[in-house]
Amino acid sequence: MGFLSDALSRVKPSATLVMTQKARDLKAQGRDVISLSVGERVFDTADHIKEAAVDAIRRGETKYAPVSGIMPLREAIARKFKRENGLDYKPTQTIVSTGGKHVIYNAMLATLNPGDEVLIPRPYWVSYPEIVALCGGTATFAETTMEHGFKLQPDELERNITPKTKWLMLNSPSNPTGGAYTRAEMKALTDVLMRHPHVWVLTDDMYEHLVYGDFEFVTPAQVEPALYERTLTMNGVSKAYAMTGWRIGYAAGPEKLVKAMDFVQGQQTSGATSVSQWASVQALDGPQDHLAVFKKAFQERRDLVVSMLNQAKYLKTPVPEGAFYVYPSCAEAIGRKAPSGKTLETDEDFVTELLESEGVAAVHGSAFGLGPNLRISYATSNALLEDACQRIQRFCGSLR
Ligand SMILES: Cc1ncc(COP(=O)(O)O)c(C=O)c1O
Repeated sequence: MGFLSDALSRVKPSATLVMTQKARDLKAQGRDVISLSVGERVFDTADHIKEAAVDAIRRGETKYAPVSGIMPLREAIARKFKRENGLDYKPTQTIVSTGGKHVIYNAMLATLNPGDEVLIPRPYWVSYPEIVALCGGTATFAETTMEHGFKLQPDELERNITPKTKWLMLNSPSNPTGGAYTRAEMKALTDVLMRHPHVWVLTDDMYEHLVYGDFEFVTPAQVEPALYERTLTMNGVSKAYAMTGWRIGYAAGPEKLVKAMDFVQGQQTSGATSVSQWASVQALDGPQDHLAVFKKAFQERRDLVVSMLNQAKYLKTPVPEGAFYVYPSCAEAIGRKAPSGKTLETDEDFVTELLESEGVAAVHGSAFGLGPNLRISYATSNALLEDACQRIQRFCGSLR
């Protein structure tokens, strides 16, 4: 009998972290490496948010926080959902956890029994299937295509729902593709869900504030109020407020579900960090002007990256609506020889050779369940992005 649990054998390491580590190792050897592999923002947390944390420390808000979160934050979350999404949630229908990832984990732990299925559109954020597996459920997958912006189509959703489907996981804007659902696209999906009353939806809205141009962000319970009773609306401060290290995520949903998540969390991490929660109150209630600044900067970067990648031989890069990722297809590069002499057989070969020959770290699409593609995070400076895209162009140009 092995010492480590069998559950571990069901879980894959995060390809994103593996790639980031490879880039770090090469840097440590003195190589000039640009990492486009992480979902980390270049911006710093705004000063008024930091000040709120400092004030909280000075006031002695350093004790255990209530399991579901401090009431001022749960009230701020309820206000946020009303103000930005037109959703009515009582503070008692909200829960605060240690990052968005933890929210998903708690929801799955609180609801999944062996045999329960969670339907996940491909490509997906790397953690979804692994969280489902760790919580004893079965991840099932629905396919998407580049032609439809990697967005789930209603007929594909319908086809993949089984009597065992407990949840649909939706993520808009998406990590890894940046694709986001318009109101009409979302309504087409919620119409399908209305025909399957046993299916709940977990909507991961982490990138809500990062949509570009006139694009209107929508979330399922807003588009179809009749789904409110079986929707967990998840969000967090990590991406919107450049607060990845503060570790605060939150969700709102039916009280019964939120209570069950509180129950899980109470025997696990207890309440999230008190100081981070006070900072998050300020993030949600305080001035929001920096959101427009972030948005403008990211839109410029998206446009720069898409245009430069579309000048790279063999890459096809659609224009995504949001987040800070692009997801080019490298199908036409497969079968060609890299400068090292290696023939590229997979998208993983593509990113490995790109890192070796030009020092640019990206993540292969197959790690997110759909390839041959690569995910490029443009959450870095314009200068670095330009340099990285030139290197990618050079690498593609060198393929034979
Ligand atoms: C789609 C998506 N959901 C959730 C998370 C997790 O957010 P957090 O850092 O708050 O745990 C991420 C982080 O990369 C993400 O990309």
